[in-house]
Amino acid sequence: MIKLDITKALENAAQAATLKEKVAAAQEALENGTCPGNDFLGWLHLPSSITSAFLSEIKACAEVLRSNCDTVVVAGIGGSYLGARAVIEALGNSFAWLTNKGENPDILFAGNNIGEDYLYELTQYLKGRNFGVINISKSGTTTETALAFRLLKKQCEEQRGKEMARKVIVAVTDAKKGAARTTADKEGYTSFIIPDNVGGRFSVLTPVGLLPIAVAGFDIDKLVQGAADMEAATAPTVPFEENPSAVYAAVRNILYAQGKKIEILVNFQPKLHFMNEWWKQLYGESEGKDLKGIFPAAVDFSTDLHSMGQWIQEGERSIFETVISVDTPEHTLLFPHDEENLDGLNFLAGKRVDEVNKMAELGTQLAHVDGGVPNMRVVVDRLDEYNLGQLIYFFEKACGISGLLLEVNPFNQPGVEAYKKNMFALLGKPGYEKETEAIKNRL
Ligand code: PA5
Repeated sequence: MIKLDITKALENAAQAATLKEKVAAAQEALENGTCPGNDFLGWLHLPSSITSAFLSEIKACAEVLRSNCDTVVVAGIGGSYLGARAVIEALGNSFAWLTNKGENPDILFAGNNIGEDYLYELTQYLKGRNFGVINISKSGTTTETALAFRLLKKQCEEQRGKEMARKVIVAVTDAKKGAARTTADKEGYTSFIIPDNVGGRFSVLTPVGLLPIAVAGFDIDKLVQGAADMEAATAPTVPFEENPSAVYAAVRNILYAQGKKIEILVNFQPKLHFMNEWWKQLYGESEGKDLKGIFPAAVDFSTDLHSMGQWIQEGERSIFETVISVDTPEHTLLFPHDEENLDGLNFLAGKRVDEVNKMAELGTQLAHVDGGVPNMRVVVDRLDEYNLGQLIYFFEKACGISGLLLEVNPFNQPGVEAYKKNMFALLGKPGYEKETEAIKNRL
């Protein structure tokens, strides 16, 4: 089980329990469906309700893509993108695209930006490749994803023929509404449904995340098992002190009330970069509203100690850190001995590289705590499917509780619409005539 260490977060760890009653009330509201946003609680018992028959369906579809494609492009943005990428990058070889010997398709991501160069370069790269597409959009109308999908569908049909394209394009979308559903039904694509009651940022354990992860060759049964075990470990019947999600939610709210307005999620493993990105969306979109909310930031250490380290050590004291610490790396590599010892590092010779990393972690923790940065550690045994499943659910559950402690609706995101409205008005989308006129007057 992942462990949460809060001994360096509060003056006295027992302080966390001051929010025990409020946390219990939040847990109860989630369980009973009496909290704001209660139409989006499908994630709460999702892991324990996923059947092996459903997982087999996903794996069967993944197999079709795996056996017919050397490359699979996953089109999606936000909640329809980050979870899959977080898990695939955490589990995969850091040089996957160079070392792939064909046993797994290369997984690429699109539909998460509007960069013309990105899309051009992607379409160039895909020339001559036997590629497939997973088109993921809950609303089925997101511009970034729809644009990428248009390009990819056309190219796939041209390169692979209509019949094969129909086989290797899969949709993950709403059951009934949206353009992605209309296209999937019209073209006869295999499709999976994103449940109505699961919001994008909580959807990684639906086909949104599970299908791309299975296509990449990872074990989705173990991922779901890890999440289900964490669901049990964070149930309302578990005492507060033993429930890591409850304690994490409480501590971050206590720190926020003390003026710590920014939480920095830290990793010491580059493979976790996108896990940080996924977490940023989860907490940012859930809590940043009603003029409230901890700002979720993220850094990759030790890389960013050489860029952001100064700010964290001595800048404004409005931050706290949460470190994802991985106990055991997958591989062993020793610090080499060097006869000449020109760099003076022979005192490290024979030590595991991870021992050096762990001392960097400990040294950083002590330095930052000395500098007035409270620190929590989320300790994960290793980066495998089972542990990542736990980590995902741990953060999701804590996010639900934490948002309710903050007294916001953690499950909506009304603010995301503002830029879209302006963009459509500026682009002259039919139906936006009044907005177009108004916005032009502002320019
Ligand atoms: O969490 C969310 O709701 C958002 O990040 C969405 O996932 C994102 O905007 C993509 O939306 P859609 O899946 O409808 O294309």
